[in-house]
Amino acid sequence: MIRKCLFPVGGYGTRFLPATKALPKEMLPIVNKPLVQYGVEESIEAGLNQIGFVTGRGKRAIADHFDISYELEHQISGSNKEQYLESIRHVMSEGIFSFTRQKEMKGLGHAILAGETLTGNEPFGVVLADDLCIPDEGLENVLGQMVKIYKQFRCSIVAVMEVPEDEIHKYGVIDGEAMKDGLYRVKSMVEKPKKEDAPSNLAVIGRYILTPDIFDILRVTPPGKNDEIQLTDALMQQAQDGVVMAYRFKGTRFDCGSVEGFVEATNYCFEELFKKGKLV
Ligand code: UTP
Repeated sequence: MIRKCLFPVGGYGTRFLPATKALPKEMLPIVNKPLVQYGVEESIEAGLNQIGFVTGRGKRAIADHFDISYELEHQISGSNKEQYLESIRHVMSEGIFSFTRQKEMKGLGHAILAGETLTGNEPFGVVLADDLCIPDEGLENVLGQMVKIYKQFRCSIVAVMEVPEDEIHKYGVIDGEAMKDGLYRVKSMVEKPKKEDAPSNLAVIGRYILTPDIFDILRVTPPGKNDEIQLTDALMQQAQDGVVMAYRFKGTRFDCGSVEGFVEATNYCFEELFKKGKLV
């Protein structure tokens, strides 16, 4: 059973300045709900209700969001405004939240390693909240799809999607051996390659299931691209020592870390969820 999920939320969100000067980018709302809440709801729905945040300076609003606001509760208790708190009350009653701090922003791999104290020696999920994932109609959410694959293979799983050639330089990219149903056995991975060096068009997005041996690998992974400790490099090592699977998830992903993706997600959620009464 996987019960824990890490949310690395230490990044500076420079692409959203000045909005993110004092506000964590994970608290930016898509329609009426902060990005991070979408991710936490996905995790809880997938059965991973022990939520671990790896935070950084200036991110206290995230901890406050998942805690009771007594003044607010008191103020709107018994009024028709209580409906607006329904989704966050549900998340707070289902989830167990813990926090640790990444003291220096040395990359995603470094953030995950800082999360070891929260996950311990068990497999765990990782959600990058700025990737908003909407599953295809009638399917379970993307992390839930991955949990199913994990139960079959018991190894680290990365979510991948096909991206156009001119965007491949923004992602970690896999070289994989195709198996069945959108599953690949990872042979190698490269972080943010030039398009001519990319081994495929399959890009890793912000959903992972990791086995805890990743921590020993991360401990000795030297800084890579941009002088940061790259999760991609550690996963490649894990793939070479054992097995890592890539899963072409069934759904749509919005890159809400970029202004374009954020606006697309907002338009989609407003039209397809909010207006249809599905966004609570
Ligand atoms: P990004 O590079 O997309 O996020 O990292 P960023 O640095 O916040 O954004 P920009 O590029 O400055 O606009 C991917 C994810 O990894 C986390 C980020 O919070 C984000 O969810 N991260 C990255 C950390 O938690 N710690 C790090 O040291 C680096």
